[in-house]
Amino acid sequence: MLPHNTIHNLDCIEAMSQMDVGSIDLAFADPPFNIGYKYDVYEDRKDSQTYLGWSREWIAGVFRALKPTGTFWLAIGDDYAAELKLLSQEVGFHCRSWCIWYYTFGVNCKLKFSRSHTHLFHFVKDKKTFTFNREAILVPSARQLVYADKRGAKEGRLPDDTWILRPQDLAEGFHPDETTWYFPRVAGTFKEREGFHGCQMPEQLLGRIIKVSSNPGELVLDPFSGSATTVAVSKKLGRQYVAFDISEEYIERGLKRLSSIQAGDRLDGAPDPKVSAPSTKKGKQLFQ
Ligand SMILES: C[S@@+](CC[C@H](N)C(=O)[O-])C[C@H]1O[C@@H](n2cnc3c(N)ncnc32)[C@H](O)[C@@H]1O
Repeated sequence: MLPHNTIHNLDCIEAMSQMDVGSIDLAFADPPFNIGYKYDVYEDRKDSQTYLGWSREWIAGVFRALKPTGTFWLAIGDDYAAELKLLSQEVGFHCRSWCIWYYTFGVNCKLKFSRSHTHLFHFVKDKKTFTFNREAILVPSARQLVYADKRGAKEGRLPDDTWILRPQDLAEGFHPDETTWYFPRVAGTFKEREGFHGCQMPEQLLGRIIKVSSNPGELVLDPFSGSATTVAVSKKLGRQYVAFDISEEYIERGLKRLSSIQAGDRLDGAPDPKVSAPSTKKGKQLFQ
């Protein structure tokens, strides 16, 4: 059996075939999107059939490794979102939510709208029995925040299925060159950037996924560790974890990130993104 609570320098398909069947509570995967992104080892431009064949293999590996009550979250870009959703369903998963994580500062495109969202598919193995800790991820409702409406539940409500990183900008309206057409912020505020991996996900996003779909002490799998965000958040939230990456350098630096944190540490980034930075209107602007 592969040791837990570490990141292994292994190909995930090979590694998952060595894992005990039905041993994982939650899997989170943020695979390469096959869009020509620059990784140090992985070549992110395969022909479609090769990419899809490979995707089917690793998704089947996740299915095999998950407990019958397990959950699988898949982060994927537009280019293959439809295909990977269907593939996951063919492998046997049921889709419970199709969330959109909206962000600003996506890759700028010249002859099409700039990328500003990632699809987050919430799959379960069993339609009826799965972990969903709704009380762990409640947010204040509009009734509470805006309308002072006493009918609003005191504990708040579940988030919508569009996850927005900077809602403080929503009031500013839409930007015409992005797919979701919200006005993006001007200045970067993410102090937590590790600096060795361009696809580092925000800890707060992983925090929501891990809190809602697993319980303390349970085992979380990430087949594509990258900068080690999933394992770092799992450790902080008191989960067990195991992850893989084919890059020796990402593993080395991911292990350093892991050893610098403890269970119980706070997650990077503001839990309420509204207070993470000033709204664009209140920020410093280059152009008036
Ligand atoms: C999109 S990145 C993951 C980013 C990660 N979610 C984070 O927050 O940093 C995808 C990663 O998959 C790794 N990778 C590609 N093919 C792999 C394979 N067959 N097995 C394991 N890892 C692989 C790449 O080296 C890359 O680091």
